[in-house]
Amino acid sequence: MKYNAYDTVTAVVKSWTSKARSSNIRSTKRNSNFASMPAYKSIRKYEKVGAMLGIKSPFFRAIGGRVGNSCIIDGRKVINFAWCDYLGLNQHPSLAAAAAAATDEYGTCVSASRLVAGETLLHAELEREIASFLGVEEALLFVSGHAANVSTISTVVGDGDLIVHDEFVHNSAVLGARLSGAAVRTFSHNNLEALENILHETRTAYQNVLIIVEGLYSTEGDVPDLSRLIELKQRFGAWLMVDDAHGLGILGATGRGCAEHCGIEPKSVDIWMGTLSKTLASCGGFIAGSRALVDVLRYAAPGFVYSVGLPPAMTAAALAALRVMKAEPERVERLRANGRFFLREAASAGLNTGNSRGLGMLPVIAGDVIATVKLWHKVFDGGINSSLIVYPGVPLKGGRLRFFLTSEHSEDQIRLAIGTTSACLRGGRVPEANRAVASMKG
Ligand SMILES: Cc1ncc(COP(=O)(O)O)c(C=O)c1O
Repeated sequence: MKYNAYDTVTAVVKSWTSKARSSNIRSTKRNSNFASMPAYKSIRKYEKVGAMLGIKSPFFRAIGGRVGNSCIIDGRKVINFAWCDYLGLNQHPSLAAAAAAATDEYGTCVSASRLVAGETLLHAELEREIASFLGVEEALLFVSGHAANVSTISTVVGDGDLIVHDEFVHNSAVLGARLSGAAVRTFSHNNLEALENILHETRTAYQNVLIIVEGLYSTEGDVPDLSRLIELKQRFGAWLMVDDAHGLGILGATGRGCAEHCGIEPKSVDIWMGTLSKTLASCGGFIAGSRALVDVLRYAAPGFVYSVGLPPAMTAAALAALRVMKAEPERVERLRANGRFFLREAASAGLNTGNSRGLGMLPVIAGDVIATVKLWHKVFDGGINSSLIVYPGVPLKGGRLRFFLTSEHSEDQIRLAIGTTSACLRGGRVPEANRAVASMKG
């Protein structure tokens, strides 16, 4: 019974991989009902397997109140490690005040493309401050980080070009690469020798080459060797793009991201990508780099040209967040201290945190899909909200609970999360953890 369920889950999740999806997701019959699509059938099958195993869906749970290091989910207080609000700014009064003031002044939307309809002063102000914070010439806002990646990659390279990316880059970079029409090669995670070999074998066959990596890998919690990447891109005449969605606010002494962490000149990376939805506690994405790059995107990137501007409230909230970050660098240090503490405590509890360096997020690797989903539920029942990552997001046996830390978590909260997780991994139950969560401040 367990074996069958495992096989079914494995088959279902495998059918969700992008390869299977592209050939499998559409029904072959014309005008057929959406319910006949293989994707729909997979979802229902997944639910059935969950019911067989007595596991509730971990997805789309109802959140109440303003989320911080703790929150209310399905009416119950839990300690929250599932949000990427790394510096705890969702709770900061100046963000909500800035969003309210911007809505009062400009209304709730920018209901057309900025290119043709115009833009608020806030857009230009945020773009200027992001560029100057990162140490590059210019920045351009998009309505999401996902759109920023897809649009930028598919604008700067195309037919006759090559993209070489780390196997673990985000879905938005993979999609952008696919849409671009360029040839695509991947190298195993952080393996720059493999990257060098690909460049060595193929560079002369293509016009432009774009290397894509992340500044801080969100499933692994590790960083690339940026100095070596810059040396490679210079030697082979390629462009380097760093998706620093998770690096901003975490990496570097003042949270400026992967460039500060690695001690490199920010202008030596051709394309910086970032998001407003994590550390900056808002929504939207940006690309930062040279004036020429930003000009190209401003007039040619479909996700900018043919999409609306970022709403005033979101723009103002991100601007306020950036200013809090600059004014209160101690938040960055608190987050780093929490990372070191989590890593130390997890190691002494015998938890497997993979390659994580304790930088903002830590995975606890549990194994296959069923073991990980079960563990997630037990830990959640114990009052700890982590994020569940299973195949195809990670290898089949590499399922994990991911703990996003914030500068505002207390050592007691972290200790409880680790104690609860290791007790659940050893098969224990943790009803007492709930009482501790309920009585904790925060
Ligand atoms: C590495 C990375 N890049 C890009 C994105 C997309 O950003 P957004 O959620 O702001 O659309 C994410 C979001 O999860 C991410 O983790």
